[in-house]
Amino acid sequence: MVCESALTKKLFIKTYGCQMNVYDSARMADVLAPLGYKISATPRDADLVILNTCHIREKAAEKVFSELGRLKGFKGEKESGGGRMLIAVAGCVGQAEGDEVLRRAPQVDIVLGPQTYHRLPEIVARALGAVPGSGILETDFPIESKFDHLPEEAVSQGPAAFLSVQEGCDKFCTFCVVPYTRGTEFSRPVGEVVAEAERLVAAGAVEITLLGQNVNAYHGSAPDGRGSYGLGRLIRRLAEVDGLERLRYTTSHPRDMDDELVAAHGDVDKLMPYLHLPIQSGSDRILEAMNRRHAADDYRRVVERLRAARPDLALSSDFIVGFPGETDRDFAETLRVVTEIGFSQAYSFKYSPRPGTPAASAEGQVTDAVKNERLAMLQILLNEQQAAFNRASEGHTMAVLLERSGRRAGQLVGRSPYMQAVHLAAPPRLLGRIVEVRIDAGHPNSLAGCLVGDRSGGPTTRRPAAEPGDGLWEATI
Ligand code: SAH
Ligand code: SF4
Ligand code: F3S
Repeated sequence: MVCESALTKKLFIKTYGCQMNVYDSARMADVLAPLGYKISATPRDADLVILNTCHIREKAAEKVFSELGRLKGFKGEKESGGGRMLIAVAGCVGQAEGDEVLRRAPQVDIVLGPQTYHRLPEIVARALGAVPGSGILETDFPIESKFDHLPEEAVSQGPAAFLSVQEGCDKFCTFCVVPYTRGTEFSRPVGEVVAEAERLVAAGAVEITLLGQNVNAYHGSAPDGRGSYGLGRLIRRLAEVDGLERLRYTTSHPRDMDDELVAAHGDVDKLMPYLHLPIQSGSDRILEAMNRRHAADDYRRVVERLRAARPDLALSSDFIVGFPGETDRDFAETLRVVTEIGFSQAYSFKYSPRPGTPAASAEGQVTDAVKNERLAMLQILLNEQQAAFNRASEGHTMAVLLERSGRRAGQLVGRSPYMQAVHLAAPPRLLGRIVEVRIDAGHPNSLAGCLVGDRSGGPTTRRPAAEPGDGLWEATI
């Protein structure tokens, strides 16, 4: 007889990049679970280490190589004890630079892209049978969809879960690698999405964030096979799922914000009043060079329509500074649009030339010094807006979904409807519940408050979220 521990293998997954990678990491754990792989909190002594990587900016890609250096040591330790550690590089660096990964890091056994991880069991078996050092590369875009080959059983993601509904991108912004790493746009059928949402709720999810590189370009085939649903209609359908209390979606493109989706913000209560809607730049000249195919005023009008539907909508955005050809005047336009619109939070980046993208070889590359200066200025403004938004929450009572334990004893952390992190003292049995919290302090990056009531009335035994630092659910972008 073989004892349980001999069958159990340790799996460590580290996730970089966007929420889609976080979702993919969870699904890789699902695919490997039937083989006996269980999530481990450390790469040390793991049987299989997966780095789920991001290629969006140079820094993100370089992090992978430094992590591979650290893993080489662990692999050596395990081998000198007679064991075997497989190292796999998955995700967008794997897709874009698979050959280079194998060349620069011979300790890597497997390289696979974001569309091939449903084949992991077979790939892992092949790697275990192969001579160490003969790396396997699986980055061709397969004919079959990975979604048709994933197990129905899902490792619980906790109260706030991700669900990929759309993948890939056909927009080809001139700075971006995503169309190359994730392939062409694809929407999952409505029936499949609803079934997965129901499974996530059964496994403890209270909130679901619908994911896609261009999630509002969603056009999944209707349950009866006739026609397709846009994202607004999908959201209405998902709002009917019992036990699902909150819906969000990310990331959207301003061009795909259709009337049905805008209307959903006004009349679907479960759709939370927070939207991440990247603009990148406030200058029409730069927007054109980026191939965003909309002007700054188009963005302003989309925001007006959204705010007319949902006046308390909090907005977040992405910005790139120092795009080739960006002048002080262009940058001033970005500051102007930020001042006019007002964001509750935002992400801003220095333009990073990516191999193979048109902007990387464009004239007028901006120096790093100028990029730093502009980034600092933009961030001062964005930080002020975020701090003001958080301060304005003081004294209000908000519905907070409690997602995980905090750093301090007796503390739980949750999210407000507007995506703010909220810290409060509360018993662990309330994890996974939506509670009423009076906000006492609005700090620059989070809120602090106290419990005034539990309004979910749901079951008391929700599965707790994974702990921070377990390497799986937290992405490091
Ligand atoms: N699909 C989304 C963005 C996905 S990438 C959209 O269209 O808005 C996430 C963010 O990374 C982008 O919004 C952009 O701000 C940033 N980004 C992408 N490529 C970049 C690059 N080459 N340099 C700097 N930032 C970049
Ligand atoms: Fe990249 Fe543009 Fe596609 Fe967004 S829309 S993923 S920025 S190419
Ligand atoms: Fe996401 Fe990074 Fe790939 S942002 S799609 S993991 S390049």
